[in-house]
Amino acid sequence: MPPIYQTSTYAQITPGGHQGFEYSRTHNPTRQALEKALASIEAGNYGFAFGSGLAAMDAVLKLLKPGDEIISTNDLYGGSYRLFTKIFEDFGLKFQFVGMNDPQNITAVVSEKTKLIWVETPTNPMMNVIDIQAVAAIAKKHNILLAVDNTFASPYLQQPLTLGADIVMHSATKYLAGHSDVVLGSLVVNDSELAERIGFIQNASGAICGPMDSFLTLRGIKTLHVRMQRHCENAAAIAHFLHQHPKIEKVNWPGFDFHPNHEVAKTQMKDFGGMLSFVTQGADYAAAIKIVERLKLFTLAESLGGVESLAGHPASMTHASIPKAIREQSGVVDALIRLSVGIEDVRDLIADLEQAIA
Ligand SMILES: Cc1ncc(COP(=O)(O)O)c(C=O)c1O
Repeated sequence: MPPIYQTSTYAQITPGGHQGFEYSRTHNPTRQALEKALASIEAGNYGFAFGSGLAAMDAVLKLLKPGDEIISTNDLYGGSYRLFTKIFEDFGLKFQFVGMNDPQNITAVVSEKTKLIWVETPTNPMMNVIDIQAVAAIAKKHNILLAVDNTFASPYLQQPLTLGADIVMHSATKYLAGHSDVVLGSLVVNDSELAERIGFIQNASGAICGPMDSFLTLRGIKTLHVRMQRHCENAAAIAHFLHQHPKIEKVNWPGFDFHPNHEVAKTQMKDFGGMLSFVTQGADYAAAIKIVERLKLFTLAESLGGVESLAGHPASMTHASIPKAIREQSGVVDALIRLSVGIEDVRDLIADLEQAIA
């Protein structure tokens, strides 16, 4: 097993004459092993590991300069929205949020100043699917960088670099690590010049992860494919169960043939993932709260992608930092419940939902 190099520094033979490693902000052998694995599973050339998914995003935004514009999907993780609007807007970056179900909406807002397109697919928590190849064509035409947050799909289901993205980002906290015991982020790129700039930012800004967390994420990656298969199977069964339930109005899951971008999901993803969200009949807020409070096997908690099932109430939890009016425009209503379907026996999960919804 790769050793956990729990060291901040490395012995030098003569001043400046190090043996491949100088200081652990710059390089650490355990982190390096993880970065190689990350690049490999995303079919990329260069991997970078950070202290969290948001730290990885922070490094991407530092590629830009004041005055640059970013076009982002309008339905995305609340913390990403907060980083964009509450931190980087103050440094002179301008963000435009558009619905990307139809990629042509991007073309309408592209300007000479647009330097980055930020895509999350499937989106958190509405499970919208964005056509990465179509967005990549627009990005290439206008010479704009395309970054894809691949957290919800995982590289087992979808590899954005192979579909034309320049940067793939993960909250490795989720499916990559897979056991809800580590917070970690990653970037993978193909281009050597871009890799050099990201490596410089990683070292100069210093938002790296530690060796123990690198080890845990490496260990998680070993079972990613097996876990994802069961996540997908269980989520499909639960999506169908909820869809036929008289007390449930709407289920968002890309595997339904009536999902708006089901055909795109079928071509760019190997399966439909372990995440879904749903709204109670009549968008009843009190009923939604009762359901999440009554769940026993699903734990009511932030985060997703671990082997144990989690339930969340996006409006008050993961997406609370998005103003109500903006969040409701993209469907994140107060009666929406998000499920991260784990790998437990699906009969137990359905029985838990049955008793909570009854
Ligand atoms: C889609 C997505 N992107 C990014 C993040 C941020 O990652 P982290 O919590 O590891 O900083 C999250 C966290 O929930 C997420 O769900």
